[in-house]
Amino acid sequence: MQILTTAAELQAYTEQARQAGQRIGLVPTMGALHAGHLQLVQAARAECNEVVATIFVNPTQFNNAEDFRLYPRVPEADAALLAPAGCTALFVPSVEEMYPRPPVLRFDFGDLERVMEGAHRPGHFNGVATVVSKLFHLARPHRAYFGQKDWQQVAVIRQLVADLSFDLEIVACPTIREADGLAMSSRNRRLDPAARAAAPLLHQVLAAAAAQVRQGVPPAQVRAAAEATLAHEPLVTPEYVEVADAQTLQPLENYAPGRAVVLCLAAHLGGVRLIDNVVVVR
Ligand code: PAF
Repeated sequence: MQILTTAAELQAYTEQARQAGQRIGLVPTMGALHAGHLQLVQAARAECNEVVATIFVNPTQFNNAEDFRLYPRVPEADAALLAPAGCTALFVPSVEEMYPRPPVLRFDFGDLERVMEGAHRPGHFNGVATVVSKLFHLARPHRAYFGQKDWQQVAVIRQLVADLSFDLEIVACPTIREADGLAMSSRNRRLDPAARAAAPLLHQVLAAAAAQVRQGVPPAQVRAAAEATLAHEPLVTPEYVEVADAQTLQPLENYAPGRAVVLCLAAHLGGVRLIDNVVVVR
């Protein structure tokens, strides 16, 4: 596995691969890798000749300086996981390399980002779109792989690709869960034992809500029941629970026939913010 640290190295590596007729899969990450990330690498490996993973804790997508400071960083352990999973090149740039000048361009994804993560983390999707656009331009992948745990992020990136005509395909891979249902996340490492013990409640609440959606319980009631269950656990501070259209991400008042529903939540456990979602095809 090649280690690349400069934008020029990444461009040269992927350009050479393209010219040799290789298909390039890009797996953008912020590191602290877990089985969910490795699944993205394996999916890319199955479909592409070159698998370029990137590890960059992107400062422009954090609206909370403490969250950025505490984000887990374990570059050596990450690199050791990537090669066996099929990664052929790892791009690990510095902040100065990715942002030689502070960016002034601002992305606005309209209604897609007026809800949930976009509403609760102002500027978050601007930062995600900025860094993902840079990576797409530098690596020019044929496919880019993202996890469905970040359902709204995937929707925003699909919009970005459509609006800016990036010539690549977005592949979204299912959320990987611990045995007790907790969605894998780099932030799980920061949970203390008590918070970790409480954390499976998030998925339990989503599973119960999904069952209600299938039974036709109105969205407002589903939301209220989920919020009440979360509020009952002293270690959990819910931020939002949403019952939304899976494509437009707009909150639902009623179910529309034939349209998938996404149930999303964000909650704080002992100072760690976690998100999760499940999709219900009705
Ligand atoms: O999902 C993430 O880890 C990040 O938001 C991404 C896509 C790597 C951009 O920094």
